[in-house]
This record gives sequence, C-alpha cells and structure tokens, in this order.
Amino acid sequence: MISREENEHLTQTGPGAPAGELLRRYWQPVALSEELPVGGAPLAIKILGEDLALFRDDQGRIGLLGIHCSHRGTNLSYGRIEDGGLRCLYHGWLYDIHGRCLEQPGEPGGGMNRDAICHLAYPCKEHGGIIFTYMGPGEAPLLPNYEFLNQPADHCCVYKVYHECNYLQANEGNIDPVHLSFLHRFLEHKEERYTGVRGTEESHYNLIAKSERPALDVEITDFGVRIYSVRNMGAGKSYLRVSNFILPNLSAFPGQTGGEGYGVNWHVPIDDTHHWKYCFFFSREAPLDKAVIDKALAEVNESYHPVRDESNRFMQDRESMKTQTYTGMGSGFQTHDAFATGSQGAIQDRTQENIVSSDIAIVAARKLMEKGIRDIQAGGEPPHVIRKPEQNKLTHLLVLSDLVEGVSDWKEYARGLAAEASRRQQVTGSRQ
Ligand code: FES
Ligand SMILES: [Fe+2]
Repeated sequence: MISREENEHLTQTGPGAPAGELLRRYWQPVALSEELPVGGAPLAIKILGEDLALFRDDQGRIGLLGIHCSHRGTNLSYGRIEDGGLRCLYHGWLYDIHGRCLEQPGEPGGGMNRDAICHLAYPCKEHGGIIFTYMGPGEAPLLPNYEFLNQPADHCCVYKVYHECNYLQANEGNIDPVHLSFLHRFLEHKEERYTGVRGTEESHYNLIAKSERPALDVEITDFGVRIYSVRNMGAGKSYLRVSNFILPNLSAFPGQTGGEGYGVNWHVPIDDTHHWKYCFFFSREAPLDKAVIDKALAEVNESYHPVRDESNRFMQDRESMKTQTYTGMGSGFQTHDAFATGSQGAIQDRTQENIVSSDIAIVAARKLMEKGIRDIQAGGEPPHVIRKPEQNKLTHLLVLSDLVEGVSDWKEYARGLAAEASRRQQVTGSRQ
C-alpha cells in the first residue's frame, strides 16, 4: 500500500506533474510508422495530456506541433501539407517541423513579425517501425539502443493496443511473474511454435502451469529492475525466467518467441486514465511466422482497440474455463492483461491494495521511479537517460527463458550470459 500522495506522484502525467516530468525525460513512442505513411494525412495525437498534430512534411520529415494554431487556435491536424510545412486552413499560416512560422500570407509582407512566433514543437525520430518524440527540456538524450528496435523488419512484430486505464498499473502487470501461472494459464497441454524454452522441448505455457509459486529475486540495474523468477521443476531442474522493468514505462519479458527473442510492452499515457500499449516481439534467429503475427494482431481491430473489452465482458465463456483457459477469455495474452489491469479502475487506488512478498518487483520499480522524480526535483537527471554512446550498448538487458540444471546463483548465471552477449557484440562490432 502507498499513500494517496505517492499514488498521485506516480500516476499523474500532465505537464508539471512529477511522473509527467519523469516520462518527459525519455524518448516516447508517439505513433506507429504505419499510421503516418509518406504522403499521408496529419494525425491528431494526444500524449501525456497534450493535444498535438503529427505530420510528415513534403520532404518526408516528421513534425509534432501543438494542435492549436498560434494565430487563433484552429486545429492544425486538418491542415495542408505543402511548401515545407503544415499550413493552417483558417488563414494559411505555415509552420515547419521546428515550430517556426514560415508564412503569414494574409499579412502585409507575408507577416513582418512572423519570426517572433514560437509554436510548440517536439523533436521526432523514426526507428524500428515507431515514431518517437522527446517532450522534455534541453537537448534530447540518445534513443536507447534496444535490441528490439534493431531487428530486420520481418524478424519483429510491432503494434499497439488501446487501454482504458492509467499507464502504471498496466506496466506493473508486466513485472509480476506470478500472474502468469493464473491469468494466462492454459488448462490443456499446449504445443506451439515460438513458445520454446532453452534446454527443453516443452513450451513455457506448460512449465508455468506446473508451478504456481516461483522464487523471486530482483536486482537494481542502470536501466531499471532485473527480475528473476525460478520455478522448481523437480529432478534438480529449474525453469528460470528473467524479465525487466525499464525506466520509466516499459518492460521486456520472454514472450511469443521464447528463447529466440523476447517481447516488450511500452505503456504511453494518452492522459491519466487512458494509454497506448506499444507491443513488440522479435526473433533473432529467423523471420517471424505469419501465423504467430496474425494471432497477435487478431486481438485488436483496425483502430488498435481490443476486440474483447468491457463492453462485451471480454466475451468470457464460462464453459471454456473448465477445460481450456483459466479466464475463459480466449488464448490472447493482451486480452487477459487488458481485463486484469483495466478492471483495477481508471487509476488503481493503491491506498487500498495489500502488497505481499511476490510483489517484490513492483515495489522495487515504484521506488526507482520515485528516485527518478527526486533526481529531477533536485536539478539532476534520472537513471537511464543516456547521453554517451559508450553507455548505450545495453547488452546486459537480458531476457531469459531457460530450463537449467545445477544452477544455484541466478545472478551469477545471468552475469555470465550478459558478459557473453557483450563479447559477441564486440566481435560483431569489430567486424563491421
Ligand atoms: S487560426 Fe490558423 S492561421 Fe488563423
Ligand atoms: Fe500478463
């Protein structure tokens, strides 16, 4: 349980709010690339409580501007893409991607004082199928060199899911290893590709269902919290999963691609009671199977809203709860998570929760976010704001799904694999 003040600290994301200031110190996804094709229409975007217009100019450069024109407030997302910028439909003022007013065509001389206009504009970057923006003060940091953003297009699936709740409770679901054995449990034995675990032919669904009570441990890292969950499989074997809370609003975990890659959920507030969950999963080894991608995308409609939601009671089928799934809500993990976290309330009232030992990672992540907020308030920078290329290797951001034997020191085991990944990267880097 935390106090009402602490809950507000972590959940309110508008300009000037503590968590809002924290989230603004990092690059944040603002749209999928597929939503803004070259030559396409501008988009009206709401992110962190701010209404903005996202567009590509006629040279393909991406801009993100305050949605209301600096003249008399007309909505710029309806504007014309031309002459190196976005032109307001009301009186033709033209803005470039930096928020400079290039033309005021109805004014004498095209607007003698137009250079005095400084329209709200945020820098954007496009990478890995995502358009990112930086909404914080000063110079933008480096975009973290995440492995999931650096995959060939056919090795990675990127989409998003609309959530009707605060961003924080949904991200806390990602760092809660125990819920896998309940919320996502399949009651029948599952044989599926891409659910592999290193060291066995068994899918992770079956291993998770076998053991409801993993031993948990956490480790604070420079990027967030590394979470170990270890399930005893008998005969000296253990199922080890390593997942990660990454500051300030994303998580990486073993997903549909098992030991061949991993999944990421990045929870970006629209406002304090709605958010977009940007979802990634990738395979290092091979292009993704179309059937796996289709299965993931089948959970959302063409506007990225969940097909199963509160309005249809997640299509819960109580008959299927006897033999197929724990929830009766089908096999899609996004649906299960949307139900569990959305139904906590628009903003979970954490003054009423009862934290237990298995919530260890959630407690650690909240403390780290509080530290980041305090760092900003003291005039510094929070952890994982990366400014130097040598800090941007991130090979120690490990995600594991391994059946192991004879290992007792999980942290040592993970450190060994991280060192191996780092050596691999150096060899690959030196060959390039
Ligand atoms: S309100 Fe946009 S140009 Fe006048
Ligand atoms: Fe989940």
